[in-house]
Amino acid sequence: MAKLVINEEAYEVEDGRPIKETCEEAGIPFACEEGICGTCVVEVEEGMDNLSAFTEEEEDFLGEQESERLACQCTIKGGNVKLNF
Ligand code: FES
Repeated sequence: MAKLVINEEAYEVEDGRPIKETCEEAGIPFACEEGICGTCVVEVEEGMDNLSAFTEEEEDFLGEQESERLACQCTIKGGNVKLNF
């Protein structure tokens, strides 16, 4: 089990699962769910390496940076990840 902390609240997520459902539960808004609109952008405070690689959609939308992800595009590999939105 991986641990996802969203705005200081901890959730358990099965290793290798998308984080979308948990993020939705935590109140993160979603719209397109395809990495296009940017509604679901989150700041990764810890554990970026525990998330899946950037998708092409994320690279297009977010560009070159290391602290933001699109929650509709990520899966959690394991370990701990801390997000803020
Ligand atoms: S919901 Fe549109 S980019 Fe994630």
